[in-house]
Amino acid sequence: MYVCICRQVTDRDIRQAVAQGASRMRDLREQLGVSEQCGRCAGCAHEVLKEARENCACAACPRAA
Ligand code: FES
Repeated sequence: MYVCICRQVTDRDIRQAVAQGASRMRDLREQLGVSEQCGRCAGCAHEVLKEARENCACAACPRAA
C-alpha cells in the first residue's frame, strides 16, 4: 500500500529500507523522501517503520546482535 502519496513510497519500500539499515524517520526521509512534502504520511510511516524494525529478520540485520 502507498504510505506516502507525495513521494509514491509504499510500505514495502519502507521495509526494504529497514532491511538495509534504516532505523529512524530521519533515515526514511533522507533515503525515500517520506514526509518531506505535506507531511500527512508521518504517522503511518512511523507505524510501518516500527513494525518493520520489530519484524526485521534479514541475515545481516544490525539489530540482531
Ligand atoms: S504524503 Fe508523504 S509527504 Fe505528503
